[in-house]
Amino acid sequence: MSKVVLDAAHFDSKARQWDTNPVFRERAARIAAAIRDRIPLSRSMTALDYGSGTGLLAFLLKDELSHITLMDSSAGMLAVAAEKMQAQRVGNMTLRQVDLSADPPADETYDLICTAMTLHHIPDTAHILQVFQRLLKPGGWLAVADLDREDGRFHGPEVDVHHGFERAALAALAESAGFTDIAFTTVFEIEKDRDGDNRRYPVFLMTARRS
Ligand SMILES: C[S@@+](CC[C@H](N)C(=O)[O-])C[C@H]1O[C@@H](n2cnc3c(N)ncnc32)[C@H](O)[C@@H]1O
Repeated sequence: MSKVVLDAAHFDSKARQWDTNPVFRERAARIAAAIRDRIPLSRSMTALDYGSGTGLLAFLLKDELSHITLMDSSAGMLAVAAEKMQAQRVGNMTLRQVDLSADPPADETYDLICTAMTLHHIPDTAHILQVFQRLLKPGGWLAVADLDREDGRFHGPEVDVHHGFERAALAALAESAGFTDIAFTTVFEIEKDRDGDNRRYPVFLMTARRS
């Protein structure tokens, strides 16, 4: 079976409707709440939201941070984020169209990197964790929200993504990339009808610190 790749053009086509999905909004709210519970956010911190999409997570956290950069490979997603920034007169956000799995990272570092539902779209997990490590200041925080390991029916077996993650295996990759204090919590469950079954897909938040 030839695999379907969910590339930037795919997300461009989804961008305009993204924020109308109540599940996406609720998921972002639960992830933001879990980040607040586990990471001492402050108005002196700079942050990167990687695979930010339209900024559902970043807009919830922005007032608790000094500055947040929204980075995504989809121009369409960032265009929606730009409209929201303008409408809300947000002054502490920057948008960047970047794919860190291919493009060289910018010459800047952050106190916090968060990434929501994006890791499973990036083929080389070990590499992207190493990039995050390099982009964090010493002692900086990483917050990754994604799917627990699933049977492939979340996107469909024809779609070329990671089928979620085993927590222990992801923790081992994070440790190898130079992270410590690795912890997991379940933040949300996505319900989907699959082949007549109502299935629940848990979403975890992994938090870790750059040593
Ligand atoms: C499932 S969406 C999640 C969007 C947002 N974080 C949210 O929770 O609403 C995945 C996002 O990751 C972006 N993405 C996928 N692969 C990427 C890559 N290699 N580099 C940067 N962004 C990527 C997509 O364009 C999309 O906006």
